[in-house]
Amino acid sequence: MAFVQFSQVSLAFGDRDILKNVSVNLQTGTKAALTGANGAGKSTLIKVMAGLVQPDSGNRICQKDARIAYLPQSGLTHHGCTLREEADKAFQFGYDIQKEIDGIGDMLKAGNGNTQSLLERQAGLIAQLEDSGWHRREAQAESVLIGLGFSQEDLSRQTEEFSGGWQMRIALAKALMQNPDILLLDEPTN
Ligand SMILES: Nc1ncnc2c1ncn2[C@@H]1O[C@H](COP(=O)(O)OP(=O)(O)OP(=O)(O)O)[C@@H](O)[C@H]1O
Ligand SMILES: [Mg+2]
Repeated sequence: MAFVQFSQVSLAFGDRDILKNVSVNLQTGTKAALTGANGAGKSTLIKVMAGLVQPDSGNRICQKDARIAYLPQSGLTHHGCTLREEADKAFQFGYDIQKEIDGIGDMLKAGNGNTQSLLERQAGLIAQLEDSGWHRREAQAESVLIGLGFSQEDLSRQTEEFSGGWQMRIALAKALMQNPDILLLDEPTN
């Protein structure tokens, strides 16, 4: 059950209040849309929700281990690898979990720590990895990319060859293919 909650969150840039005593409660299954005038603070609110910007006051609570994917409004470009390799970066969370599972395995072998709690943590991580679809990441990446209009041939192209609109699609694809608990999209239709 993923959730992210704000209570009484405020944030100012200089002497301008952008967020003032904002409370939000997003529970599992919630689909929320945020509308407001240009400059009203929508992107700022989403960044605070993603945990990328700290508010001046108030609390942000997010469920432990909840995976958040965030698509910024603009400015994303990719370079230095193929589309297939870039897509694989979306699954970094799985590599991190796998590393922790292996680390616990090493501790168990060496007889370090509390065996019972290490086994429980390890079982939890294995289940989390299973649920996330990480073991099917290649097929998942391909199906999301093809679904967003990329071709099979595009998968082996260098990412810098894609235009601005396609760069945002790469970012959107990466957010979607992570199958995150919480998906934050800032004007994805741009
Ligand atoms: N890092 C920053 N430092 C100073 N001012 C900022 C910063 N980030 C945003 N602002 C200002 O805060 C206000 C809210 O910006 P924000 O980008 O959150 O608005 P928005 O509702 O997403 O607007 P838009 O509809 O144009 O995307 C704007 O006036 C913006 O210029
Ligand atoms: Mg914005």
